[in-house]
Amino acid sequence: MVAMPSLPIHCRLAVLALCGLLAATSARADLADATERLAACSACHGEQGEGVRGAEYYPHLAGKPAGYLFEQLQNFRDGRRVNAQMTWLVGSMDDAYMAAIATHYAAMPPRTRPADTGAETLTEAMRQTAVRLVEEGDPARDVPPCTACHGKALTGLEPAIPALVALPADYIIAQLGNWRSGVRHAQPPDCMAEVARDLSPGDIRAIAVWLSRQVAADGAGPAPAGSFLPPRACGAMPHGEAP
Ligand code: HEC
Ligand code: HEC
Repeated sequence: MVAMPSLPIHCRLAVLALCGLLAATSARADLADATERLAACSACHGEQGEGVRGAEYYPHLAGKPAGYLFEQLQNFRDGRRVNAQMTWLVGSMDDAYMAAIATHYAAMPPRTRPADTGAETLTEAMRQTAVRLVEEGDPARDVPPCTACHGKALTGLEPAIPALVALPADYIIAQLGNWRSGVRHAQPPDCMAEVARDLSPGDIRAIAVWLSRQVAADGAGPAPAGSFLPPRACGAMPHGEAP
């Protein structure tokens, strides 16, 4: 697992600003004045949820499937996913408010450029490992290809599978490590926990560094719901092919 970079000063200030925001929130579901209400989120996630240059570990939110974003807000609130900043921020939000936030960010243009982390060098051996696992999986270890769920273009699948393009390597390594160590859970069946446990740390590093360099076509968002069937059921995507 990778240690999280120390919190940039603007994010620390954002936490303070959010105290006021949450106090004023009182479970209202309309986000007509979203820009103002979500201003404190923008310090770490970007004004349109596009992410913040120089603080690339903080994930972008723009264009991710609404169902996925909603699940994550619930996961932080309900303890299935642990991050001190996020847990604190969402602690008093109700489902209606979370759904409104998720819809707001899902409607923003998806980020498709490679993540800018100055990630480590991708060796030829790492590239080969990554391409094989992402596109073909490893039947001997029961690892399905990432593309079978995240889509051939790696831009995700509505309503609850996020894109794997435009994520920084450090973030991917941390999330897969969190699934392996039980710090991150999705609703059962938690298919990502199974995938993460079946990969070695070396596989994860190779996949993460390779993924962080991939690009999707401008504006390419998640594939429409039902456009393909994942090979397994996952919590928020209950329909998968029979094994
Ligand atoms: C102080 C910085 C900070 C602020 C402010 C902040 N976040 Fe986050 N957020 C994070 C970090 C760091 C993560 C990744 C945590 C992890 O490693 O699991 C995250 C993750 C998320 C995720 C999951 C993203 C994904 O792709 O899985 C969502 C959704 C989210 N934040 C929404 C919000 C919303 C909405 C607000 C405002 C109410 C907010 N955040 C404010 C730091 C912040
Ligand atoms: C059986 C379907 C399935 C397969 C196969 C799969 N994923 Fe996932 N993945 C999901 C689902 C569903 C989620 C959303 C989980 C949640 O709600 O937290 C997810 C989420 C993720 C996330 C979190 C993204 C974020 O923004 O926080 C990462 C990283 C990830 N997958 C990487 C991979 C990699 C790498 C592979 C291939 C080795 C892979 N996945 C294979 C279904 C799958």
